[in-house]
Amino acid sequence: MMNCFYRAKMIAIIPIMVSLIVACQQPAATPPLTLTAGFIDSNLNDAVTQIKVLAEHVPTDSLPRTYQHSTSVSSNTSWWTSGFYPGSLLYLYEYSGDTQLFDLAKEKLALLEKEKENTGTHDLGFMLYCSFGNALRITGDTSAYRDILLTGAESLSTRFNPATQTIRSWEGWHFPVIIDNMMNLEFLTQASSELDGDPKYYDIAVIHANTTMKNHYRPDHSAYHVIDYNPENGEIIGRKTAQGAFDESAWARGQAWGLYGYVMMYRQTSDSVYLDFARDIASFLFGHHNMPEDGVPYWDFDAPDLPADSPYAGHYKTMRDASAAAILASALLELSTYTAGEEQVGYLRKAETILRSLSTEAYKAAIGTNGGFILKHSVGSIPHGSEIDVPLTYADYYYIEALLRYSRLLENKPVLG
Ligand code: GLY
Repeated sequence: MMNCFYRAKMIAIIPIMVSLIVACQQPAATPPLTLTAGFIDSNLNDAVTQIKVLAEHVPTDSLPRTYQHSTSVSSNTSWWTSGFYPGSLLYLYEYSGDTQLFDLAKEKLALLEKEKENTGTHDLGFMLYCSFGNALRITGDTSAYRDILLTGAESLSTRFNPATQTIRSWEGWHFPVIIDNMMNLEFLTQASSELDGDPKYYDIAVIHANTTMKNHYRPDHSAYHVIDYNPENGEIIGRKTAQGAFDESAWARGQAWGLYGYVMMYRQTSDSVYLDFARDIASFLFGHHNMPEDGVPYWDFDAPDLPADSPYAGHYKTMRDASAAAILASALLELSTYTAGEEQVGYLRKAETILRSLSTEAYKAAIGTNGGFILKHSVGSIPHGSEIDVPLTYADYYYIEALLRYSRLLENKPVLG
């Protein structure tokens, strides 16, 4: 039996232990922020005005993709970017309370719903979670959105292969998995944990994230774009790129997807392995000799070093990708809340630098221009000659997301809504 001395000591110690445990679980307090509420609000208000311009350019039966050669380009619902426009409308509705934005979003959600049955793409997280996931989060209307999301999660889970321990990305190749697929895992984890869906969705996400950590990353924590697996035994057939400058290069948006993906997986699992991995990715990116001072990456980290005879020499060598920057800003803001001290300040300052840069005339379009898109100068795929130095719907989505995350930090609220 515990004697009186030890019992008294334990009674004194227990509250200290409890408060230590609670302190460890809580996000670190936010250090001083260098962007003002005025700056964030003015950019979000501009976004509200500009997305209404975009709405005028969007055909009723499709979703905006980009604006190039003075022409609006839209897609059908099965294109991977179809969820970003309704997602942006919902974010801006959440910010402004402007019901016109919610009504516009609902029109597009009605079109998009059929994609819940789509088993031919790994992009259902982008398509359904950025759209219906935000709709559910903001409205709390489970009867309207839960079943759609769970059906979509089931469709996505059909692409998991136990032999490769991954979700298949594209058709063709042997069994290609792209780093971008990290972004579809939030949908799966949420389907199990928040929506009470089958626990297998969460398990698939964790297995995929672990396999990607093992196979997609080089020792310096840069990521390959595509790993092509043997679907029978999981062996790696090729380490390739599709959208980067060359197979061994660090395609910028892929690196941004990876950082965002591992920060998000830490949030969803509390497994510190993912947090440490995200830190290592951030160190690679922000320690890279080609990371520009304004925080807006070149489309490929290796592009400025390409030889003159490269197919991507000339003006491609220094072309920036605003979409990668916006994704990085949003990820860094979340990462800052899981860290402390100088490390936390470092992530915050980098995110602030990016947001400041993207909000200058160099990247942010004047209202009424740019086909209604907010940001200029993103890159879809230079090797495919597609969407080069144009606005992109996902650049706007992650820019808005980062501004919203920052506005929550300013209000001392959790970074996620
Ligand atoms: N997920 C495709 C891209 O990032 O371009």
